[in-house]
Amino acid sequence: MRKINLAVFASGGGTNLQAIIDNIEAGKLGACLKVVISNNSNAFALERARKHNIQAIHLSQKMFATQDEFDDKLLAIFQENQIDLVVLAGYMKILSPRVIRAYKNRIINIHPALLPHFGGKGMYGIHVHEAVIASGVKVTGVTVHMVDEIYDHGPIIMQKCVLVLDDDTPESLAERVLKVEHELYSCAIQLFAEDKIEVKGNKVHIKK
Ligand code: GRF
Repeated sequence: MRKINLAVFASGGGTNLQAIIDNIEAGKLGACLKVVISNNSNAFALERARKHNIQAIHLSQKMFATQDEFDDKLLAIFQENQIDLVVLAGYMKILSPRVIRAYKNRIINIHPALLPHFGGKGMYGIHVHEAVIASGVKVTGVTVHMVDEIYDHGPIIMQKCVLVLDDDTPESLAERVLKVEHELYSCAIQLFAEDKIEVKGNKVHIKK
C-alpha cells in the first residue's frame, strides 16, 4: 500500500510530532513525514525533525509582505512534497481560508479536551486544563478533528476520554491528556493512510 505523505506544523516542544516520528520509525504508521514547518525558529519541534533527517522549515507570515505570498509558499511546499495530509500539532497560528479550502478534509488538528467543549479562543495549553478543572466536569479527553475555517471546529474524527481526578492539578491532568494525544493522533493518521475517512456534512464516518 502507498504511504501517505505528511506535513506537520508545530510551534513548540513537539511531543506529538515526536510520537508520530517514533510510530513511523517503528513501522506502525503507513506514512512518510516529508516536512515539519514552524512559525517559531526556536521551536524544539524543528530540532526534533532535524535529528531524524526530516526537512525542517521555519516559515512565518511575518517573512512575507502579504497573506497570499505566505500561502503561495505553503502551497508550493505541499505540492513539491506531494503532501496528502497536513497535521497540526501544537501549531499556534491559524491557516488561511485559502489554504484550508485547497486542502479541504486533509488538514487535521489535535485538541486536549472533548470538543465542542473547552475549545475556541484562549483555550490552548494549560488554560484548557484549568478551565476543565474549574468547571467540575469528571471527564475530559482528546479530540482529533478536521480543520475548517472556524477555530477548533471542524468535523470530529476521533475522541478519547480521560478521567478528571479529585486531586488533579491542571499540570497533572495535562500530563495524562498528553499521553493519550500521543496515541490517538497516530491512530487518526493511520485511518487516513488506510483511506478509511469519509466526511459527510459535519460528520466523519470511519469505513470498515
Ligand atoms: C498539545 O496539547 C496539543 O493538543 C495542542 O498543543 C499541544 C502541543 O504539544 N494543540 P506538543 O508541542 O506536541 O508537545
